[in-house]
Amino acid sequence: MSMKPTSILLGLLCLGLACVAQAEEPIVIKFSHVVAADTPKGKAAEHFAKLANEKTQGKVKVEVYANSTLYKDKEEMEALQIGSVQMLAPSLAKFGPLGVKEFEVFDLPYIFDGYKQLHTVTQGSIGKDLLAKLGDKGILGLAYWDNGFKVMSSNKALREVKDFRGQKLRIQSSKVLEAQMKALGASPQVMAFSEVYQALQTGVVDGTENPPSNLYTQKMYEVQKYVTKSDHGYLGYAVIVNKAFWDGLPADIRKSLEEAMVESTVYANDIAKQENEDSLAKVKESGKSEIIELTAEQKASWKKALFKVHQQMADRVGADLIESIYKATGNDMSKL
Ligand code: LMR
Repeated sequence: MSMKPTSILLGLLCLGLACVAQAEEPIVIKFSHVVAADTPKGKAAEHFAKLANEKTQGKVKVEVYANSTLYKDKEEMEALQIGSVQMLAPSLAKFGPLGVKEFEVFDLPYIFDGYKQLHTVTQGSIGKDLLAKLGDKGILGLAYWDNGFKVMSSNKALREVKDFRGQKLRIQSSKVLEAQMKALGASPQVMAFSEVYQALQTGVVDGTENPPSNLYTQKMYEVQKYVTKSDHGYLGYAVIVNKAFWDGLPADIRKSLEEAMVESTVYANDIAKQENEDSLAKVKESGKSEIIELTAEQKASWKKALFKVHQQMADRVGADLIESIYKATGNDMSKL
């Protein structure tokens, strides 16, 4: 059956319209993470979504899925690699299973004495070289976002190193954190973040470590009697994207998103310290757990017990990398 010229014309027009409609569909970036929206990472992710939308005039829509609503720790890494999500910001302690063990250097106890020292690494060449290692895994590292320095929590007051003996403490999937808990005499239990509250509540584990923002927003403090302000280690994030997806974006869109990421990183790293201080103050106000401040002697004995983790883990994360961090920060733990 032959087509009338008018139907051909109509067909072409419709095709054209469909094309226009298609071109107006925004590019969707699914950004999955495991913490509450009201945390440094949660807020920074929302900030990025807003900026990305503005800077691309609505051509990009970033959908943020907080609190493990889309994927838990382990699954989110797999989801990124197969392209089910496009963007994540896992903690630096979670890259070992991916085969990039060097990121666990950030978990070494007391390696950074405050944010300033940390930033010499995350905002300098060491940080850049580490992100580049993700390329082989089909992943592009865009930025480091801060959370903060960790507290230890438990139903037992943890003041002296001997107090850790026999304690079952939840950790992230990092061999450095495993060695850290063992060096203190505790028994480490790897567990997904989304399962920690229940594990603490039911006594599957006695305690855990996290920056105050996570302790507060996950309500862990409601099921922990004591929180020791130890600042014994850092927890922060690498913002990562599926490389094939990112490279496939139109150049102008990618440029706008890169700008949005730079601005969101400044925002994230500006709010993190205060957010953690506020969270700790709220935990204190709640009266549900007692905040323990360590004396200078107690802190020194924690450091002494934990320095061996730097030596034990040198082969895993790289002795040269540890050395270069000591040099960049001026915090040479081997001189303790
Ligand atoms: C944890 O598992 O304790 C943290 O990595 C959660 C997070 O993303 O801050």
